[in-house]
Amino acid sequence: MDEKKAVIILFGGSGDLAKRKLYPALFQLFNRGELQDHFAVIGTARRPWSDDYYQEIVTAAVTNLPQATPKKVAAFASHFYYQSHDVTDAEHYVTLKTLAQKLDDKYGVGGNRLYYMAMAPNFFGTIASHLKSEKLLTDDGFNRLVIEKPFGHDYESAKTLNDSISATFNEDQIYRIDHYLGKEMIQALLALRFGNQFFEPVWSNKYIDNIQVTLAEVVGVEERAGYYETAGALRDMVQNHIMQLLAYLTMKKPTAFTADAVHAAKDEVFNALHPYTVAEASANFIRAQYTEATIDGKTVPGYRQEDGVAPDSMTETFVAGKLQLDMPEWRGVPIYVRTGKRLTQKSTQVTITFKPTAPNIFAANGENKPNQLTIYVEPKEGYSLQINGKNMGQEFELENETLSFTHDDKSVNKAPEAYERLLLDALSGNQTNFTHWTELAQTWQFVDVIRKAWDQMPNMPTYAAGTMGPVAAAALLEADGHHWVFQP
Ligand code: BG6
Repeated sequence: MDEKKAVIILFGGSGDLAKRKLYPALFQLFNRGELQDHFAVIGTARRPWSDDYYQEIVTAAVTNLPQATPKKVAAFASHFYYQSHDVTDAEHYVTLKTLAQKLDDKYGVGGNRLYYMAMAPNFFGTIASHLKSEKLLTDDGFNRLVIEKPFGHDYESAKTLNDSISATFNEDQIYRIDHYLGKEMIQALLALRFGNQFFEPVWSNKYIDNIQVTLAEVVGVEERAGYYETAGALRDMVQNHIMQLLAYLTMKKPTAFTADAVHAAKDEVFNALHPYTVAEASANFIRAQYTEATIDGKTVPGYRQEDGVAPDSMTETFVAGKLQLDMPEWRGVPIYVRTGKRLTQKSTQVTITFKPTAPNIFAANGENKPNQLTIYVEPKEGYSLQINGKNMGQEFELENETLSFTHDDKSVNKAPEAYERLLLDALSGNQTNFTHWTELAQTWQFVDVIRKAWDQMPNMPTYAAGTMGPVAAAALLEADGHHWVFQP
């Protein structure tokens, strides 16, 4: 295996994401030998930490991982350096540049730089322009920018951000993170759709009746009210994760399994998103906020009672909606999506319901149920396919049967975490699992109309914590003669 060589400059080195996700992911890459001797990480943040203290933080973040021996952890942590940094101060970038060059020489990195923005998004643009003005980008080796969500707040702010990072980095140097694209079962969707002869021909409005996507969470707003109050479920989950999932579910077969071809296929889907007027958006998308409830004898606060949330907050914690694609293959197929916090259980899953067979020659032989394919993304990872069989016996009676496959716990635990995968992709120069600007532009424009519709509505509907959302979410499907297949 070729070890990856880079100086990784992490903006937001003292942050929660770095501790919870990035240090463990880097450790796993180190453990797997993807990172060995020729790398260094410079953590930056405002706090005046020493290298030693920073290394203690990194050590604490990885020490409980299954493969972490004290020796390995010490070797790993020795690659970490800290620089206290004011992102608005040009002088600090000069110091950063000198340190990066010093570490490049020390570890024999060859000029490769990965700039990772994992901090408050309002500074992303400032950082990118200083990287250019203070000439941090190297002439030899690669220079790549990894940028966390939220990528903007609406189309305008996303465009401003994109313009500012594009002044320093070309599109092929920008790696916009959507961690759902690093998930095993999201990637597996491509294998399922394009690696099987029998799904491809039936994957269109000729045979598919409707598609349902659920991203349900049990957690509430946690300690993230500051961010969540400005986002809400629509911006937090729909504009990014749900849209990406939708593209993988509906895109045409890419001409090749390459980043360019996959992005081109996704673009076609986003271009075909049926645009709603404000009135259509309010008819097709509903929102709600969770209220206090007692779950298993424990009282869970309502959203407006959470720390950091305004008592009259109009931020939605639940969204359900219907999307349509203006593509010949998908015209007439409703795509229902929903996501929310404080729902019944954590589950990300997709159900594809096929049309009934026609003509049905078994009208007198029991119920000929439509085929249903469910893709379990998380925490269960696998598939199930509902088919019609015949029950055992003399009579000819149809019987609904399930073919199912679930990855076992051992394989699930062994598989790389989304961040591990995505960091390796960025270090390897593979952009397949990152989002392009064109995708974000389209999805923000779509979502902005829904936002506008809701902003004109004075009332915030509610649902009790621990349920699957408001009745309006069920009504949305009932109006079309459908129901949510996944009903925990
Ligand atoms: C993040 C959102 O992008 O995704 C969070 O900001 C959410 O609010 C999280 O909890 C869900 O991710 P996962 O991987 O737990 O499904």
